[in-house]
Amino acid sequence: MGNQPRIVLGVCGGIAAYKSAELCRRLVEGGASVAPVMTEDAHRFLGEVTLSALATEAVRTSLWDEREPIPHTRLGQWADLVLVAPATARLIGAYAAGLSHDLLTATLLATRAPVVLCPAMHTEMWEHPAVQDNMALLRQRGVGVVEPGTGRLAGGDVGPGRLADLDEILRAVSVTLETAGAGAGRDGAAQDLAGQRLVITAGGTREPLDPVRFLGNRSSGKQGHALAEEAASRGGNVTLVTTADRPVAAGIRVMKVETAGEMERAVLSLAEEADVVVMAAAVADFRPKAPVDRKLKRADGVPEIVLEPTPDILAALGERKGHGQLLVGFAAETPEGSDEMRHEALAKLRRKRLDLVVANDVLAPGAGFGHDTNAVLLLDAGGGERAVPLTDKREVARVVIDTVVEMMSRRGRDAETKGRQQ
Ligand code: CTP
Repeated sequence: MGNQPRIVLGVCGGIAAYKSAELCRRLVEGGASVAPVMTEDAHRFLGEVTLSALATEAVRTSLWDEREPIPHTRLGQWADLVLVAPATARLIGAYAAGLSHDLLTATLLATRAPVVLCPAMHTEMWEHPAVQDNMALLRQRGVGVVEPGTGRLAGGDVGPGRLADLDEILRAVSVTLETAGAGAGRDGAAQDLAGQRLVITAGGTREPLDPVRFLGNRSSGKQGHALAEEAASRGGNVTLVTTADRPVAAGIRVMKVETAGEMERAVLSLAEEADVVVMAAAVADFRPKAPVDRKLKRADGVPEIVLEPTPDILAALGERKGHGQLLVGFAAETPEGSDEMRHEALAKLRRKRLDLVVANDVLAPGAGFGHDTNAVLLLDAGGGERAVPLTDKREVARVVIDTVVEMMSRRGRDAETKGRQQ
């Protein structure tokens, strides 16, 4: 973590509150200053003494503590990050609606620091449309979310809703602090995307066959998420349209989708306002023509699945490309050699009217789907070429974003020269 980040740790009243003691300890051990804020209900599950013995700052619970007349604004300004673990349905609902009935909700509204929520509740509550709609709204506002895991819940039930693993929460904390720290120019990272709006897609789409089965692919979303993090750390205003349940740094707006159809709707409407669109998602080319709304049973016999093509989102973006918009596509290939990959990728670049294509051989060792590393070939519409040998996906993201920035500034210079000549 480094640099003694200041973290407000919000704790709500749910059984997972006991895990926030361990979370607090590990944050402090990692070098953070931690100021816990407990809701009234959190006290039913966890003693204040426990948290105060582990934290570096005093535990706060009330807006009406006389020694500090306006604790919520102080805490909000003090924090580099506000982390809420566990976040209950009530807290999520209040935050989405902009309500501030206690110190924690008031701090959430009073802060400009990134916010990461770690929801934990019973499956029925987590899956309730009200909670899911509130979560979608918060993700779109750039609130970081560490998705709950699936497992044993209070009372012995099993299902999604359990507080995410602490390792995963700590990873989201450090990614968010890194991204925000770079955004504030603290580690000297270039802010060469400041003021630019980027739409980035990630993950493989899932096309339903019935309520429990889908046609999918092996994409993990790692490359697209790395691109979003790299772009955000360089000052870009990033919306990530993703199918992947991966932690995302707070500050990146997230739209979660599942199918090619949902991704198409999200991307086409967002693209109208975007300076750069990067389609890193592995979008299915075909989907079941008539998904059924009840589970296909073995006793019904082997189903005949008829497929239909999905919309080609990237081609539609190429057709509507606004003036000055930069369009980046990916080309997942299984070529015989690098010439064939170049040939296929350039054909995609022309066919879909792209400015840049990032080609990768998905069968090469260590590259492509599911790996932490990738090896790519960047080809631009001006004939430029750049090969990135096997390296981690964040480094690949850095080179892709470098290339995008170079292309944008080249365009800016060309437009200026043209203007002077007229
Ligand atoms: N893509 C898309 N919509 C689709 C399929 C692909 O927007 N329905 C995008 C991907 O996000 C990627 C690019 O198109 O940026 C290339 O995807 P790829 O699957 O490699 O190519 P296809 O166009 O599907 O061509 P082919 O399957 O013939 O290689």
